[in-house]
Amino acid sequence: MNIDVFTLFPAWFDWFREQRHVARALEVGHSFECIDPRASTPLKWGQVDDTPFGGGAGMVLRVDVMEAALRARYGVDPVTLRATRRVIALVPGGRLLDDALVSELAAEPSLTLLCGRYEGFDERILEHFCCDQISIGRYVLAGGELAAMVVSDAVLRKLPGVLGKDESAVEESFSPALEGGVEYPHYTRPAEWRGWAVPDVLLSGHHERIRQWRLEASRRRSLP
Ligand code: ADE
Repeated sequence: MNIDVFTLFPAWFDWFREQRHVARALEVGHSFECIDPRASTPLKWGQVDDTPFGGGAGMVLRVDVMEAALRARYGVDPVTLRATRRVIALVPGGRLLDDALVSELAAEPSLTLLCGRYEGFDERILEHFCCDQISIGRYVLAGGELAAMVVSDAVLRKLPGVLGKDESAVEESFSPALEGGVEYPHYTRPAEWRGWAVPDVLLSGHHERIRQWRLEASRRRSLP
């Protein structure tokens, strides 16, 4: 997996890159890079955005600036790029991110994530350069950076070899192994605390009964 994030704030991602599973993803050969459209803007003084036609508050990311940034990175017209590479804009009104979408993205060889700022993107960026628009929830963030981190975090941890063997993503909330339901409860030592006991079955060492108990607990928790 090779993730490129187009952001006006690449330094935000320094912390993200250091997180254990992200660092491990990089070690096993995946890549995660940030591209600052300000570095390739054709406009003077590093300008990247402009006031909206028709008036209104805020600034809008310019289509010529995004085109220059995508061309500089990939060496092709961004209109054709999206046929070979999954280019995604992060916007509050996009398709809501869920586990199925994360799995779909994790199956791609590469992702390009575009972060908006201020009032967002000139609509022509979304229409002509992007394959999809994704939202991490129906609220408005100051920009797409945190959303790009959420998407990247969820995608990277699904890739083989990224989580340690103790942290498998196979049997977790929303996975097919749990029929798409939420995860069963976990307990660890002490087996009893203030009279709160761990369910006996988990201490039984009986793997099949434990598997059954967990599946039933997950089903119960997932009832609407
Ligand atoms: N950019 C601003 N708000 C966002 C959201 N909720 N999801 C994705 N990108 C965003």
